[in-house]
Amino acid sequence: MFAVYATHAAPDDPLSALKIGELAGPDVPEGWVRVRVSHASLNRHDVFTLRGMSGHPEGITYPIILGNDAAGTLEDGTAVVIYPVMGSEDWRGDETLDPRWHIPSEFIHGTFADYAVVPQRNAIPLPKDLSPLHASVLGTAWLTAYRALFTKSGLRAGETVLVQGATGGMATALIQLGRAAGFEVWVTSRSEEGRARARALGAHRSFPSNKALPRKVRAVIDNVGSDSWAHSISSLARGGTLVTVGGTTGFEVTLNLLPVFADQLTITGSIMGTRQDMEDMACLIARAGIEPEIGVILPMERAEEGFRAMWEGRTHGKTVFTR
Ligand SMILES: NC(=O)c1ccc[n+]([C@@H]2O[C@H](COP(=O)([O-])OP(=O)(O)OC[C@H]3O[C@@H](n4cnc5c(N)ncnc54)[C@H](OP(=O)(O)O)[C@@H]3O)[C@@H](O)[C@H]2O)c1
Repeated sequence: MFAVYATHAAPDDPLSALKIGELAGPDVPEGWVRVRVSHASLNRHDVFTLRGMSGHPEGITYPIILGNDAAGTLEDGTAVVIYPVMGSEDWRGDETLDPRWHIPSEFIHGTFADYAVVPQRNAIPLPKDLSPLHASVLGTAWLTAYRALFTKSGLRAGETVLVQGATGGMATALIQLGRAAGFEVWVTSRSEEGRARARALGAHRSFPSNKALPRKVRAVIDNVGSDSWAHSISSLARGGTLVTVGGTTGFEVTLNLLPVFADQLTITGSIMGTRQDMEDMACLIARAGIEPEIGVILPMERAEEGFRAMWEGRTHGKTVFTR
C-alpha cells in the first residue's frame, strides 16, 4: 500500500530517512480494525522517529510507517478518529500509566498510509459536528494540551497561563483550548509573526521568547524544553505549576532548587491523555465551536514538504495530509 515511512534513524538529517512509496500493509490481528485513512496530521514526534529518538528502551524497529494521528473510515463505512494510546489488552484505568503503552509509529505502523490497523477501542466513532479534517489533529498534540490544561495545571477560570511557543501544533491547541476555558492566555514566540498569529487565535498577550514577563503567572505549559526552562521557572507565581510536556529544543536542563521550595512550585509532567479525555475534548470543541488551527493541508504524496517545514521550524498550527 501507499505509505510515508522512516527507513532508518538519521539523528542529524532526518529527511534523509523519509521515504514515500509502497510498503506491505500490516495484518489485522483479532480484535483490531483496519481504518482507511482520509486525513492524518503531522506531529513533532514524527521528526523524532526519523531521528531515532524514542521514549521506549526497546527503541524503534525500521522501516516504520510514520504518523500518530488520523481520521478515516472502517470497512463498514463508519467514520472514526484514532485514539493513539494503546498498550496491554488487560489494562484498566488511565491508559498513559500502562507500562506497555505506546502510540502508532513506535511498535506498530503509523497512520501516514492507505490504511492504519489499530485495536478496535482505538477507533472512536466520529462525534457529530466534528469533521474528519478537524478530528485528524486531535490525537496527540491536542490531547496532550487538553490534559495539561484541564487535569494537570490546577488553573481556574480567570487565572493566567503562559504557553511557551506560539506557532506549533500543541501551542495553538493550548491557546484555543485555554481561551475557551476562560483562562488568561499568554504566549511566547521567537518571531513577531508568531506572536501576531497567537493573538489572532485568541491569546490575550504575547511576548518574545525568554523575555521577562510584566508579572508572574499561575501556570506555565512548556513544550519547548531546554531553551525555555529557566524562563518557565522564573515566570511562576508562588504556589504556581509548571507542566512540562515536550522538549523541541532538548531535554536537558539545570534546576535551581531554591525557587522550587521557597515559592512552593509544582513541577509536573504530562503525556498524551486518556480515551475519556479525548471524548471530553471532542465534546468541548464541538460545544465551544473551536476550529483547530490548521496551517497547511497537503496530499500525502507531498508529505516531505510538511516534514521539511517542521524540521526547519516554519510550521504554524497543524499540518494535515489527505489521502
Ligand atoms: N507530552 C506529550 O504527550 C506530547 C504530545 C505532543 C507533542 N509533544 C511535544 O511537544 C513539542 C511540540 O510538538 P508540536 O507537534 O507542537 O511541534 P511543532 O508544531 O513543531 O511546534 C514547535 C514549537 O516549539 C516552539 N519553538 C521554540 N523554539 C524552537 C526551535 N528552536 N525550533 C522549533 N520550534 C521551537 C515553536 O514556537 P515559536 O515558533 O512560536 O517560537 C512551536 O510552538 C515536541 O517536543 C513534542 O515532542 C509532547
